[in-house]
Amino acid sequence: MAQIRIRNTNERITGDENVRQFLNSQEVIYEHWDISKLSPELQNKFDLTDDQKNAILNTFDTEIKDLVARRGYRTWDVITLTEATPNIEELLKKFESIHTHSEDEIRAIISGNGIFIIKGAGDVGYFDVELEPGDLISVPENTPHFFTLMENRKVVAVRLFVETDGWVAHPYEDPTFQKA
Ligand SMILES: [Fe+2]
Repeated sequence: MAQIRIRNTNERITGDENVRQFLNSQEVIYEHWDISKLSPELQNKFDLTDDQKNAILNTFDTEIKDLVARRGYRTWDVITLTEATPNIEELLKKFESIHTHSEDEIRAIISGNGIFIIKGAGDVGYFDVELEPGDLISVPENTPHFFTLMENRKVVAVRLFVETDGWVAHPYEDPTFQKA
């Protein structure tokens, strides 16, 4: 289950209900998928064939269709990022700069981990959302954020889009951003 770290105060928020409450207060959608539905050979697996990626999408078809009905997504896919990903360093550099999108950024973690760093409302400042398998998060549209890997440096996630070509990153310069 996800954990939160507030960068300005180093405060951590743990426990499903606390995390959910905090994220809801920031208008960040936070839900869970039951990863045990995945067949064992697809759990914790990072080098996936196209067939295996489709098997992941089929496993969570009900969850995906539910999101489509509620939020109007039109396409979805599975992304993997590991040390074996070509240009991983370049990709991460690109991911690790603060930006916004005109649509929300929704990810369901299937294997591995990831962190969204999000600019909170008011005095909250930036906070990290550390994600593990089964965590689903949606960063609201026009909210400054970025994504990076955790120490294990690998993740498999399902992404959903309203418009793939409308999902463009707009750089967001922010002198108040606190790196560590
Ligand atoms: Fe983004």
